[in-house]
Amino acid sequence: MGTAVAATIERPQPIAEDVRRDPPLVHDQGNTCFSLSLRTLKWLERRLEPGMRTVETGCGSSTVLFARSGAIHTVVTPAAAEHERLRAYCDAHGIDTSNVSFMSEPSHEALRKVASDLDLALLDGAHGYPYPIIDWFLVAPLLKVGGYLLIDDACIPAVRSLVDYLELSDAWSEPVFVDERAVAFQRLDERMPAFDEWRGLGGRVSFSYLPLRRQPSAWLLFLLRSNASRQPIKLLNDLRHGEMPARAQRALDISPRALKALDMPRDRASLEARVRAAAERMAPRPTGRGPR
Ligand SMILES: C[S@@+](CC[C@H](N)C(=O)[O-])C[C@H]1O[C@@H](n2cnc3c(N)ncnc32)[C@H](O)[C@@H]1O
Repeated sequence: MGTAVAATIERPQPIAEDVRRDPPLVHDQGNTCFSLSLRTLKWLERRLEPGMRTVETGCGSSTVLFARSGAIHTVVTPAAAEHERLRAYCDAHGIDTSNVSFMSEPSHEALRKVASDLDLALLDGAHGYPYPIIDWFLVAPLLKVGGYLLIDDACIPAVRSLVDYLELSDAWSEPVFVDERAVAFQRLDERMPAFDEWRGLGGRVSFSYLPLRRQPSAWLLFLLRSNASRQPIKLLNDLRHGEMPARAQRALDISPRALKALDMPRDRASLEARVRAAAERMAPRPTGRGPR
């Protein structure tokens, strides 16, 4: 009887540099490739192994690496022509795409149909609000604990707010800054965000959506409300009936003209300090007299 030999599947030779030099021209009617950077392609290639289960939103150089790695891969873009160009590139370069499932749909629809137990997911598809967050919400539960999430274009607002959240979440590892745009995380446990986990998003409260002159009193109200148990009854009633702004403005001691002159982004720290001081002045601590 012959001896059974365990089949080992070899990792293919790295090709990231070749692909970056001669990328698949799948974007813009076949004229260009908005590829991941060479550094990010190399990072990705180092993590890919034959038999891994992977998914990506967006199509391009990254897809070539997934195909070539022997991963069982799904690539999602609504642009079917990109898939055709990608296949043609791979055929011309002798890269087998039989392990790749091509889904020609927007990611927020396609990702609902992707199987779980993923080892790695790349989000580099729709970058406009709110798609990066929806894509993450759909893909996160599919990732194994220990699996990698690679996110490109972290500087774009909707992507950045996702990255800000993940940086603060205990369910995800510390970020790996692969290059100045790409960030990777490992999934540490199966928790998804709690409904009241708003503190994670961007890290802090901000009233920057209000006109400048309304921001200080909004801050003051926020601080007083969030410390409600320490406030005198009169103040709580005022807050409840929305009668604070004029008093708040006086307590802040900021004239409308001074407010207009304040440059919020640069002077945010001093404005906050001023608001906190006013909140303290308006809500004196209990004197010790009366019932406790
Ligand atoms: C920056 S490119 C991806 C580059 C690719 N990762 C590479 O290394 O070459 C963005 C991709 O997102 C795709 N895309 C645009 N809208 C999408 C959507 N709603 N769902 C999925 N992909 C989308 C585009 O067709 C394009 O392929």
